[in-house]
Amino acid sequence: MDEKIKVLGFAGSLRKGSYNRALLRVAKGLVPEGMELEIFELDDIPLYNGDVEEQGFPEPVQEFQNKIREADALLIVAPEYNYSIPGVLKNAIDWASRPPTNCAIVGKPVAVTGASTGRFGTLRSQLHLRDVFFALNMPAVLKPEVYITNAEEKFDENGNLTDERSISQIRKLLQSLADLTIKMKGGEGKQAVA
Ligand SMILES: Cc1cc2nc3c(=O)[nH]c(=O)nc-3n(C[C@H](O)[C@H](O)[C@H](O)COP(=O)(O)O)c2cc1C
Repeated sequence: MDEKIKVLGFAGSLRKGSYNRALLRVAKGLVPEGMELEIFELDDIPLYNGDVEEQGFPEPVQEFQNKIREADALLIVAPEYNYSIPGVLKNAIDWASRPPTNCAIVGKPVAVTGASTGRFGTLRSQLHLRDVFFALNMPAVLKPEVYITNAEEKFDENGNLTDERSISQIRKLLQSLADLTIKMKGGEGKQAVA
């Protein structure tokens, strides 16, 4: 691929001090050569309502859908709430899956990671997201699985990821997303990362 791989990233937390938002900003600085990552903030996405959809997609939703369409691939940074996907994130994906006949997100290559203050680092949320990818026919990076556990120990007070192992895993995840995206476009991936 001659052009850069365009990745759209979004995080499923609206908190200013969110570890997941911080992780997404970190990821932007770790992309491999030939990839660029744009961050989309979900703050203005309203709750999904079929009546609203019938009247026309709200402007922030249209912007989100357009950004997804323009992107070659997605990076989703998912917190975990009550062992599953936070409503903010699932809601945004639901909007992106409309209308079902010609939606922005279907078939889009995707990688997922996430940070939590717990011991499992969003493992369960990420697994539930993989079911959603199944519904939307989205080819997903399988390996590496990247779970940022005990997030309060891995970031400094400015939201910098200070844990070298986590940084290395995010780099590998992004390289795997590049490989998958190139393969989906009919090219050869550089390397498979286990
Ligand atoms: C409603 C709620 C439910 C939560 N449930 C989980 C959980 O199931 N697993 C987990 O690891 N952390 C859970 N947490 C803790 C979050 O991992 C922690 O608040 C994290 O900082 C949220 O992500 P953020 O920093 O990006 O906002 C929960 C937090 C909230 C507010």
